[in-house]
Amino acid sequence: MNTKTVPFTSEQLEAIIAQYPTPFHIYDEEGIVDNMKRFISAFSWNKGFKQYFAVKATPNPYIMRLLQNLGVGADCSSLAELMLCEKVGITGHDIMFTSNDTPYVEYKKALELGSIINLDDITHIEYLEKNHGSLPDTFCVRYNPGSLKEGGNTIIGIPEEAKYGMTRDQVFEAYKILQDKGVKHFGIHTMVVSNELDVEGLVGTAEICFNLAVDIKKELGITVDFIDLGGGVGVAYKPEQTPVDFEVLSKRVHEVYDSILVANGLNNVALAYECGRMVTGPFGYLVSTAIHKKDIYRHYIGLDSCMADLMRPALYGSYHHITVMGKENAPKDHVYDVTGSLCENNDKFAIQRELPKIDMGDRIIIHDTGAHGHSMGFNYNGKLRSAELLLHKDGSVTQIRRAETYDDLFSTLDFSNL
Ligand SMILES: Cc1ncc(COP(=O)(O)O)c(C=O)c1O
Repeated sequence: MNTKTVPFTSEQLEAIIAQYPTPFHIYDEEGIVDNMKRFISAFSWNKGFKQYFAVKATPNPYIMRLLQNLGVGADCSSLAELMLCEKVGITGHDIMFTSNDTPYVEYKKALELGSIINLDDITHIEYLEKNHGSLPDTFCVRYNPGSLKEGGNTIIGIPEEAKYGMTRDQVFEAYKILQDKGVKHFGIHTMVVSNELDVEGLVGTAEICFNLAVDIKKELGITVDFIDLGGGVGVAYKPEQTPVDFEVLSKRVHEVYDSILVANGLNNVALAYECGRMVTGPFGYLVSTAIHKKDIYRHYIGLDSCMADLMRPALYGSYHHITVMGKENAPKDHVYDVTGSLCENNDKFAIQRELPKIDMGDRIIIHDTGAHGHSMGFNYNGKLRSAELLLHKDGSVTQIRRAETYDDLFSTLDFSNL
């Protein structure tokens, strides 16, 4: 169980809205920092433990800086994310570059910044050498375990059908090739679950990687320096769900670390995570205003935001909790579809949701939008992407990204040649 509250009062929110009109995403700085500190501290038993923030979740330099100050690195998957790291001053092995189908221009930037390359495919060794002329002395290799006893989950799918990573044979082959070419330091990565709340599901990833590390040592004589367990730590989007207990996760990972790695003479393997969702997800709120009420075969509440601000419900049918400000304790005696204005019938934040009676002008808070909310935004129907605000512990707010304007939207069009 987790109670879905908001980190501001109605009065505070109105003061914020007076300065920054709805819709906007607002992130709770204290929540992000405390949560991350708890995660890092839970894994302090592992020397060299590193959390790399999956930038794709919330690609905002202020969020990245906040995390950088806690010793968190960045997990990047694209050139734009690498460029953000450069701007923030995140460089070297503080960047894990976990990309796929990667053009050389992206590898080039990653190598210039000194990132660890998390290699998605064996053919990319030759591709990198041919284009770059040399290889760095550290590589991580992404493993796709193929068929699993209990495989994947709905977001990530079945590993066998996923485009990511290398087969077991290819991982061994890649290690041999890389070693022959002078690579000195090795890591292993896999990611077979996403948005996983079950600790044992997450521990499964560790077991897969740890067993592989042991086999690599036995068969190739290579001791991996680090194991990157990917992301996948879930968010309790629904009130009846329970967030992952980091202490319990860490304890279980420690147990399998000892029973698999240490038992086979691998005593000093550093662990890494590339979590994104759980870092910012629960600490972001999409703040909107109810602007229309429509009663046909169903009762609709129309907001001034739309799925361009948060596409998870439309994309995955995801649940996002809704709070009607000032009506937190009112009876949920109305049933609404809560919609945006896109010409898409799946532009609905909630379907047949029991909520208090909503009046026009009510502030509608959509919870857990801190990851894959603003970042998945798009401009269909000419919708402008919203602002992002950072709420500080003392109640003050910094705008960390302004809202788009129509000039931004049309900036790639040249009307002068019409
Ligand atoms: C390779 C990789 N690493 C890390 C992440 C972050 O995962 P999460 O946000 O579930 O923690 C993802 C998510 O898409 C990913 O694909």
